[in-house]
Amino acid sequence: MANKKDKSVSHEETKSKNASLNKAILEKDGEFYTQLNDIENEVNNYKKHLKGKVIFCNCDDPRVSNFFHFFSYNFERLQLKKVISACYKSDDVEHFTRKKSRTASYLEYEGDKNRNRIPDPEEIGIKKFKGDGDFRSEESIKLLLESDIVVTNPPFSLFREFIALLVRHKKKFIVIGPIMQATAKEIFPLIMTNQMWLGYGFNAGNAYFKIPSPKEFAEGVYDVTTGLVKFRNVTWYTNLEIPKRNIEWVLWKSYNEKEFPMYANYPAIEVTEKKHIPCDYFGQMGVPTTFLQVHNPKQFKIIGSCGTLAKPIAKIAPPGTFSPGGPRFYLKNKDRTYRRLQPRLIIQRVDNGN
Ligand SMILES: C[S@@+](CC[C@H](N)C(=O)[O-])C[C@H]1O[C@@H](n2cnc3c(N)ncnc32)[C@H](O)[C@@H]1O
Repeated sequence: MANKKDKSVSHEETKSKNASLNKAILEKDGEFYTQLNDIENEVNNYKKHLKGKVIFCNCDDPRVSNFFHFFSYNFERLQLKKVISACYKSDDVEHFTRKKSRTASYLEYEGDKNRNRIPDPEEIGIKKFKGDGDFRSEESIKLLLESDIVVTNPPFSLFREFIALLVRHKKKFIVIGPIMQATAKEIFPLIMTNQMWLGYGFNAGNAYFKIPSPKEFAEGVYDVTTGLVKFRNVTWYTNLEIPKRNIEWVLWKSYNEKEFPMYANYPAIEVTEKKHIPCDYFGQMGVPTTFLQVHNPKQFKIIGSCGTLAKPIAKIAPPGTFSPGGPRFYLKNKDRTYRRLQPRLIIQRVDNGN
């Protein structure tokens, strides 16, 4: 039996059920439209990277998207070279953009020509795709090759494939994606090897999106007055250097065996909250995936995750003493049962105490 006394487990289970429901809806329905202020808050941190660059917003719908709006209205301030926004064809009449045409098209904007500081319709080139505008299509990849930086919010169900395409074509990006995908087998190796990382993220971790129609979201997610859904399980990913990556995470707690026990199925200590990483421990430590928000590669190296490092608990513990499931770290309880933990990353100090 797993430890039933632990109240935090049942709270975590409820949270995790809600998260799974929201994740399922997120992945099923690709139509989530990012708020202008969220785009502004993130993209303004990359100003020096954007200067003189061609920006590509694929997986977009320029008729309703705030990405095209943001880049075209801030074109001169950001000193951009060109903005391309590509729209995917949809035959689904229930789609958010009912006015959506059934052919896919893309827009190109190269700045204000008549000096009124507004992107006028005659300054925006509208071109039709021959195909459906899928980001994996030849036509869309041609636009990708012309561009320098991809900035968008792709369908979450295709996030891994989307990132793989950008990496394959050596493109820079600022892209929204599910936090949980940070440990996906296609994404985590890129994070471990410093080929991509988390951006600044949403204000207080709350991402608001406009959706086609209210769905059966878990409690507290859909707001009827604003028509927005709030998700805490998405973030910005990038491979552009940002000052945030050089900030040292302040460590102040001292290590002790009681507070930082060793896992039963991997030789690392459990650190339940990233703010409690001990300042005087130099071995391997397991931390929640939220650690990625503050990761500075000069301070810590990422060794792996429970997904690949955890030894099967069934090889260590007798049947009935643990909750089974996919690979996770476990802690041994006093009553000889084992407590299954939420996903953890294994990190280690770079300086080894020197
Ligand atoms: C999450 S929405 C985001 C829209 C917009 N980028 C925003 O944040 O406001 C994802 C968009 O990708 C489009 N899309 C879905 N599948 C696609 C595909 N295979 N290729 C390109 N775009 C796709 C959807 O139609 C939708 O407009």
